Amino acid sequence: MSQPMYQPMSPPLSGKTALVTGGSRGIGRSIATRLAREGATVALTCNASRRGAEETVAAVERSGGSAFALHADLVDAKSIPDLFEQADREFLRRTGSDALDLLINNAGNAGWGGLMDATPDSWDEMFAVHARAPFFLVQSALSRLADGGRVVNISSALPPPAARASMPAPPASRRPGPTGVLGSAGRATPEGPGSGTA
Ligand SMILES: NC(=O)c1ccc[n+]([C@@H]2O[C@H](COP(=O)([O-])OP(=O)(O)OC[C@H]3O[C@@H](n4cnc5c(N)ncnc54)[C@H](OP(=O)(O)O)[C@@H]3O)[C@@H](O)[C@H]2O)c1
Repeated sequence: MSQPMYQPMSPPLSGKTALVTGGSRGIGRSIATRLAREGATVALTCNASRRGAEETVAAVERSGGSAFALHADLVDAKSIPDLFEQADREFLRRTGSDALDLLINNAGNAGWGGLMDATPDSWDEMFAVHARAPFFLVQSALSRLADGGRVVNISSALPPPAARASMPAPPASRRPGPTGVLGSAGRATPEGPGSGTA
């Protein structure tokens, strides 16, 4: 009997692994579900929203993908080595390898409503999650990244809406351009960034 002319295509990220921080809701949930739909085995992290993380995992599994949730408070950079060790073990169990193909540094906290609400502690927490944690996540990822692996850092160049509302608009020549990968992204839902509310 002759061979078929074509083989069914496997999803583009089949056999790949991804770690998505802040996958319990919002943009991180959308990224995690999309990567899983493309075939990746996805580790997603949460802090306060454990139930949200479980919902993301359930959504992935309903569509036939593979994901698991890990807890880490990224204000504490010391949680990062343990996070990776847990991810290593689960990737190895699920895929036979603990190599990492994609690190998506997405977790972010809103910080404060406006300049007058900021405190030294909230300032420290915001920078811990948005700047310090991605730095040490990359440090831990380096020895695990597969050939052709990728790190994606998501951030924001804009202050929160309440702060924006109270700020005078700078002249056009001094307005900053987007510096984050999703610098102009809208709110996200499990269906995709930019629609509905997170
Ligand atoms: N939405 C936008 O319009 C927009 C625009 C530009 C850039 N961004 C950037 O895109 C990223 C995602 O935004 P989003 O709107 O999807 O945010 P979001 O809905 O507020 O979700 C934030 C995620 O980060 C996690 N997170 C917060 N604090 C954490 C901590 N201490 N330790 C670990 N995880 C923590 C949350 O986990 P838990 O809920 O489990 O704590 C949650 O999964 C952020 O980096 C943000 O700056 C967003």
